[in-house]
Amino acid sequence: WFQRYFVDNGATSWWLEGLKTTVLVTLLALCIGVVLGFLIAIIRTTHEQTGKLKLLNLLAKIYLTVIRGTPSMIQILIFYSVVFASVNLNNIIIGGIAFGINSGAYVAEIVRSGIMSIDKGQTEAGRSLGLSAVQTLWLIIMPQAFKNVLPALINELIVLLKETAIIGYIGTTDITKAATLVQSRTYSAFVPLISAAVFYLVLVMLLTHFMGKLERRLRKSEH
Ligand code: ARG
Repeated sequence: WFQRYFVDNGATSWWLEGLKTTVLVTLLALCIGVVLGFLIAIIRTTHEQTGKLKLLNLLAKIYLTVIRGTPSMIQILIFYSVVFASVNLNNIIIGGIAFGINSGAYVAEIVRSGIMSIDKGQTEAGRSLGLSAVQTLWLIIMPQAFKNVLPALINELIVLLKETAIIGYIGTTDITKAATLVQSRTYSAFVPLISAAVFYLVLVMLLTHFMGKLERRLRKSEH
């Protein structure tokens, strides 16, 4: 049966391409999402604390509302068929951008809650030591906030990885699409679908393992 589901009819290359696509889209989206999320969170908290950055804060709010208020399914279709419709761009790139912009909204709120969880005495201490507002944020607040939100960020990464399963809708062979392709060639659903589930599970467990290590390392450096 291994031959039938993993080798015949080019099944091997589907599975391999699927794995590659899922991992690449997730990594690209992770990079974009983290950068975007931290930026938005910093804009929002700076505005909250100082009243500055009014326009940027408004734009950030609109971004958060729209992204979190619409299904990622619709967002990816819009990116594929509207935004990049006339551009010849690799589907993996389009997917990475779409999921990155989607994830950024969730990352922003996670990071913002992390910054808010730090006592404002920390900011006052930094400022009274002569650090600028930006220095205080980067050197004193962020390292503590990051440690506190790491579990939530890991959770977001897992959600992101699994969410890429809808990328088959823009004609890209990820793990899920590979499973349905093999299913349609073999007229049998059990092995391909269970295999796809196992692939995702292994990826998530690997992620959890390494992220857990990072988390413990950061905790240790606390003392
Ligand atoms: N599937 C849901 C949606 O369409 C949840 C997306 C959650 N995404 C995330 N990166 N946390 O909006």
